[in-house]
Parts: sequence; structure tokens; C-alpha cells
Amino acid sequence: MLPINDCPKIIRSFGRIKSRKLSPSKNNILNNLYLKYQLSEENFAKIYLNYSKINLEIGCGDGDFMYNMAQQNQDQLFIGFEPYINGVINLLSKLKKANLKNILIYNGDFRQKFDYLCNKGSNYIDKIYILFPDPWPKSKHFKRRLISPNFLDYYISPLLSYDGDLIISTDHDSLKLWVLWSIQSSKRFIWQANYPSNWQIFPDYWHDTKYQLKAKIEQRSSIFISAKNVT
Ligand SMILES: C[S@@+](CC[C@H](N)C(=O)[O-])C[C@H]1O[C@@H](n2cnc3c(N)ncnc32)[C@H](O)[C@@H]1O
Repeated sequence: MLPINDCPKIIRSFGRIKSRKLSPSKNNILNNLYLKYQLSEENFAKIYLNYSKINLEIGCGDGDFMYNMAQQNQDQLFIGFEPYINGVINLLSKLKKANLKNILIYNGDFRQKFDYLCNKGSNYIDKIYILFPDPWPKSKHFKRRLISPNFLDYYISPLLSYDGDLIISTDHDSLKLWVLWSIQSSKRFIWQANYPSNWQIFPDYWHDTKYQLKAKIEQRSSIFISAKNVT
């Protein structure tokens, strides 16, 4: 086992956290449902033993992907992280109608919950999804990109199980190369791809995210990157 790098400096990796004043109905959803689904000690302790697998989605946006995955795999727990409050409210409104039990949400930066997740154990997460991360296209903003070799080694590798998958997708050309460079430069991950179909074709279980649908409409191709934790 390689030694863990020092904690990388936390630089804000997301844009806005709120779009406009929340309507009374949105406030209502937040006040009534966030406590029920929040990633808290109490909620986690109550449910995690019920599930055969635990999955994380970092930057779950409106939560469409996680919601569909949780509905399809009710024997697995899905934990989503999203600083943008309107995204969290959209996910909560779906949960209000469906009453799924296998979802927990943290409204904030995933990295703030890293120590908390590590205290629950090591290498116990089955899949970690980072779908359409913010591309931060200007070079002066590259430091804001969430994914980097240090991010993978420090934050992802200690949590992901050894046969687990880190799944990243993006439609942004420069970010595609950046993510592959990060995986290759990381000491702990191996990109699982032998043929173009491995990154061009999304798996059967897939649900397009909001940003993926936008990319389709604007005719940008998205790629699917799956990497294994090898240390
Ligand atoms: C471009 S959006 C994609 C949203 C969604 N995954 C989709 O594909 O529709 C990227 C999301 O990542 C979130 N994000 C960025 N940095 C994050 C972090 N450190 N922790 C959790 N979420 C983060 C942003 O707030 C934003 O909602």
C-alpha cells in the first residue's frame, strides 16, 4: 500500500450554490424532507446495514441519475453530494413522490464529508460516480477542476473498494484528456479500456443526466471512463 499523499488544498470546484430566492414551496420541501434524507450520523447508522452495496455520486446536480439508479437497485444505498441547493430540492421533490429509502444526500462539498466517510471504514464503497464535472475551461481556472491525480489518490482511493469502479463521464474535450491524464498520473487507478467502445458506449443500466442530455442536443459526444482502484 502506497502512503497517502498530504491533503490537497481545497479550492472551490463548483459555481453557484443558489440561483434565486427559494419559493415557499421549495422552502417547504427543503424544511420537511432534507432532514429525512440528509447524510447524518443518525440516518446513516439507521440504514446502512440494510444494503449490500454503497455507491457515491459526487456532484449529483438534479439527482436524476442517482434517483433512477436507486429506484432500480433498491438493495443498494446511494449517497449524493451536491452544493447547489436547487439541485438538492429537485431531488427531494422526486423523493417526496417516490418515497425511496435507499438515498442519502449531503448539500455541500463532498470533500467536507471525507473524514466522516473514512471514519466508517476503508475501501467499502462499491462505485463512485462523478458525472459531467464542471469543466472550468479557462486555463486560469484549471485549479478548480475537481478531478486531479491528488484528488483521486487522496479522496477516492481510500474509500473505493478494490474491485470497485470509479466512473467519470464528460462531453468536454479538454476535460476528457485532463481526466485521462489524472487517472494515468494517479498512483492508484487503472483505466479499464481496450477498445473505443469501452469509452464510447454507455452501459445498459445507464440513465442520461441533465448535462448529458444537453450535450446530446448540442451534438457533443460524451465519454464514459471507468477506472479501478489498484492499491
Ligand atoms: C456540470 S454539473 C453536472 C451535474 C450532474 N452530474 C449532471 O450530469 O447533470 C457539476 C456539478 O458538480 C457539483 N460539484 C462541483 N464540485 C463539487 C464538490 N466538491 N462536491 C460536490 N459536488 C460538486 C456542482 O455543484 C454541479 O452541480
